[in-house]
Amino acid sequence: MITQKSVQEILDTARVEDVIQDFVNLRRRGVNLIGNCPFHHEKTPSFIVSPAKNIYKCFGCGRAGNAVQFLMDHEHFTFPEALRYLAKKYNLEVEEIVPSAEQEEAQQYHESLFIVNQYAQQFFQNQLFDTPTGKSVGLGYFKERGFLEDTVRKFGLGFAPDQKDVFTSKAVSEGYSIELLRKLGLTTQFDRDFFRNRVMFTIHNLSGKPVAFAGRIMIKDAKAPKYINSPETDIYSKSKVLYGAFFAKQAIRKADECILVEGYTDVISLHQSGIENVVASSGTSLTVDQIRLIKRYTPNVKVLFDGDSAGIKAALRGIDMLLEQDVNVRIVLLPDGEDPDSYLRKVGITAFQTYLQQAAKDFILFKADLLLKEAGNEPIKRTELLKDIIESISKIPDPLKRAMYVKECARLFEVDESILVQESNKLLTKSMARSRQQQEAQQPQKEPDSTTPTTQARPSIGHEFREIDLIRVLINYGGEWYDEEEKISVAAFVIQNIEDVMDEFDHALYRRVAEECQRLIMAQQPVNQAVFLNHSDEEIRKLAMNLATSPYEYSGNWADRWEIFLSQKMPDENFVKDSEQALRLFRFHKILRLCEKTQRQIEQLQSQQLWDQAIAHLKVKLRLDSVKRELAGQLGIVVAK
Ligand code: GTP
Ligand code: MN
Repeated sequence: MITQKSVQEILDTARVEDVIQDFVNLRRRGVNLIGNCPFHHEKTPSFIVSPAKNIYKCFGCGRAGNAVQFLMDHEHFTFPEALRYLAKKYNLEVEEIVPSAEQEEAQQYHESLFIVNQYAQQFFQNQLFDTPTGKSVGLGYFKERGFLEDTVRKFGLGFAPDQKDVFTSKAVSEGYSIELLRKLGLTTQFDRDFFRNRVMFTIHNLSGKPVAFAGRIMIKDAKAPKYINSPETDIYSKSKVLYGAFFAKQAIRKADECILVEGYTDVISLHQSGIENVVASSGTSLTVDQIRLIKRYTPNVKVLFDGDSAGIKAALRGIDMLLEQDVNVRIVLLPDGEDPDSYLRKVGITAFQTYLQQAAKDFILFKADLLLKEAGNEPIKRTELLKDIIESISKIPDPLKRAMYVKECARLFEVDESILVQESNKLLTKSMARSRQQQEAQQPQKEPDSTTPTTQARPSIGHEFREIDLIRVLINYGGEWYDEEEKISVAAFVIQNIEDVMDEFDHALYRRVAEECQRLIMAQQPVNQAVFLNHSDEEIRKLAMNLATSPYEYSGNWADRWEIFLSQKMPDENFVKDSEQALRLFRFHKILRLCEKTQRQIEQLQSQQLWDQAIAHLKVKLRLDSVKRELAGQLGIVVAK
């Protein structure tokens, strides 16, 4: 592991323009450099490098980052690989930490799990190719399904014989530990083989190591499950693995698209036909971790639905999650009764490819279409499904994209666009509140507050307010002087003034940023844009990137606006004005909420006749009320007494 000090030194030294110029032709434009984006195809350059901010951003495809991010995206380096590359370029020493005894032990344990799985995979493969039953039953089955021998070997397919413990006793006699065999689910607690009379699929991690197995039954049997799987272990977490990802990752990058199917056999079959950018969610609904995995390679996902998929509507819900992760989703519905594997074998690769292209529909429009057909002309149903669609749209983080979908759906449903905008804003607010509740549920609260029901709807204050305004000030201008004579930074000023309402953040990520500022100030470390742009927390880093490069509102001619935004420094006194205004709004919003919360507590305590406590709360309430009035005065807001 590279030490933090060394990481910092490399980050401080690396100049984004030097690094990128080794790969992309850049020319000057004002204080920035501009060139053709290396991440997407374009004729007019929209890839901008800002030496002042030490970051790059493409206005076409949205990729952005620092020198390390560029190397990770462009050269597909891991974080340490990118750091080592930079160290070499700038002739810096890389300081490494020697792993501790504990780390070594964990490493060895993982290694041994892989070794046992490797052995098992070899065993199943030998059974498939070298035993009479394996050859006739197992290999026969795969051949029947059109799998070529190369494919069978590449994907680590195999055969588990129908005997009680051939595998286990052979493994043990060759010195493999029974504990590990049990742990990996290869052996039952009664020392029998877990996989019996099944064809075997190896599940690999991203580096191609076997982490688990799936065994498919070869006959139709209503009683036995079609597939059985290895349990979760230290090397296998079902929700984090996508079947086929190891074999698909190169192709996904190249095609800048990931095809998502349901089954193991679909992946293998498409792969064999030359469509290699395919992974499967293995029948379960998609998880956030799986989506993040895809996003490491591409933001574009094409989901293939089986033609008989009874649960399309249910599956669509899972796909809303893709939207939340800012992935572009297209849907292909296969003809009745077909899955990707069967349809490909039926029509052949060329027709299949054409079908994928022609039948692919944008997710939101696919959903709208599907639901519209269902609702027909019934007004109540139409309203309901409109809500459903708006819910999906409100999950899209990119405001520009959201606006586009709102427009399109307004047209489809023949309703006024402004109504849709309003509705989707409502949902956005709600989902923020929800994420706050989830966060509260995860962290035990400092003061358990039994008197307030957590599901209570929050009253609106009828004033446009966004936590991000405050966070933007912290990240972008935190290091500037709020008061130069007194040596108070903007960050210190803001943090001092929100410490009492720190727990009131709705948005977990924004709260993390505020807490990070607090920590840095306490440790007397600098708080500035660079700290966040190079932060170890990926989410914070991304947020800082976006705030550093995005103008506040999108409007016409936005490419020019980006350019202005990147090249101009705000006039100095704006830091002060901006931070004061953002702070007042933030405090006002939070104090208002605390007032309401306290009021409810008082009422509850009164009804329980707990007078002393009620009076104590009342005192707090009076104090809050006066702060509220003061803030309202500064903001020019009239509040009811
Ligand atoms: P074939 O029927 O051989 O084409 O397999 P398939 O992989 O296409 O299976 P299917 O379309 O029936 O199911 C899709 C995916 O759901 C499979 O690849 C499995 O990951 C999963 N699945 C299906 N049936 C079962 C089961 O009984 N148990 C478990 N654990 N998973 C299953
Ligand atoms: Mn199938």
